[in-house]
Amino acid sequence: MKALQSSKASPLSGTQRIPGDKSISHRSLMFGGLAQGETLISGLLEGEDVIATALAMRAMGAKIARGDDGLWRCEGVGIGFLKEPEDILNMGNSGTSTRLLGGLIAGHPINAVMTGDASLRKRPMKRIMTPLSEMGAEFMTREGGRLPMTIKGTDAVKGIEYRLPVASAQVKSAILLAGLTSDEKVTVIEETPTRDHTENMLRAFGHEIEIEELEDGAAAITVTGGQQLKGCAVDVPSDPSSAAFPCVAALINEGSGITLPRICMNERRNGIYTTLIEMGAEIEFKNERIEGGERTADLVINGTGVLKGIDVPAARVPSMIDEFPVLAVAAACADGTTRMTGLAELRVKESDRLAVMADGLSKCGVRLEMGEDSLTIHGTGKPPKGGVEVETHLDHRIAMSFMVLGTVTDEPVRVDDGQPILTSFPNFIDLMNDLGCDIQDV
Ligand code: S3P
Repeated sequence: MKALQSSKASPLSGTQRIPGDKSISHRSLMFGGLAQGETLISGLLEGEDVIATALAMRAMGAKIARGDDGLWRCEGVGIGFLKEPEDILNMGNSGTSTRLLGGLIAGHPINAVMTGDASLRKRPMKRIMTPLSEMGAEFMTREGGRLPMTIKGTDAVKGIEYRLPVASAQVKSAILLAGLTSDEKVTVIEETPTRDHTENMLRAFGHEIEIEELEDGAAAITVTGGQQLKGCAVDVPSDPSSAAFPCVAALINEGSGITLPRICMNERRNGIYTTLIEMGAEIEFKNERIEGGERTADLVINGTGVLKGIDVPAARVPSMIDEFPVLAVAAACADGTTRMTGLAELRVKESDRLAVMADGLSKCGVRLEMGEDSLTIHGTGKPPKGGVEVETHLDHRIAMSFMVLGTVTDEPVRVDDGQPILTSFPNFIDLMNDLGCDIQDV
């Protein structure tokens, strides 16, 4: 446990390079570890979650190493040739590692046991177990589909047509990854678009994938096995979810002006920026380009200190699923009411983010109402009060969100445990302080 304290910031200024995108980093190691030939990854996020993926892929035979030049080199085993890990795979805090690798293992004739930290051991795995069992894998977990989880994979993956019951890129990806070894068609139908980095990266590694729009507007995404991935170069753009923290900090601190270069602007990830702009934020997207199959832009953010409350459309939720904690901070500082709905999934993230944000913001004197899947925040246009300590429940984004809030409160804001920040944004404290924040260990 490492308590952190955030005190009033000067206006934020400067240019900072945000670490690599977490979703793309995980996938680059999985694909590189599976592909034939060499994959060279630049800009990989070296956070604990991604390292958990690297270690697991290594434990299953992939050659993965970081060079002194900061580049990660992978020599893959070839689809169908993952080897059985000799020991339990510890996925730490990482749901993405667990669910995506769960899919890969399910499609190989190997057994594996996965566990994780106290947060991950609470998270639901039935959402991948149901389709992967239909495809022929077998699972054993604790009560309620919780880790530790034993997976018995198969070399005869059955075809499936699976309509996602929850909008989840992790579940979609787990099924597609299991499908890479199937002789039959594996189709995932998603009614609401979720992040498509798996689909993009499959193409970049030379694998066929078919995406068809159905009559009801849903997308049918199909892979068929029998192909190999070809190693390639992956240049990971900066993470829009991580960038949201300095972005909101700049917006709520009047007189701020910061630039965050080369942020991934995949349209299934950028809902937070659309929302902040609707709230009155001044954010410019400069130098927009496509790099390695993903749209990127340099974000130029000017803080006027003035945001207004809005209604966030529920349809936008999947494109900003990880950004609600920091949006709640922006809403708490805004003038007027912000209504957020369709948030049921927030209850099964690294923590119950609805309850934990509502609790922490209430402590800071913010008026709010929490529903089963909604949060309404009544901002007054003035910073909430600080002088409180918030529990982070092993959730990096809760920790970072309250550190952002502490940049505007009169009294400092503390979190009991800042350690989880290392899972996704290892240099968060230094980077924020370089911009003008005052975040310290206490
Ligand atoms: C992720 C998908 C999302 C997101 C997570 C990363 C991914 O989870 O919250 O941080 O890389 O596929 P769900 O698929 O559970 O919504």
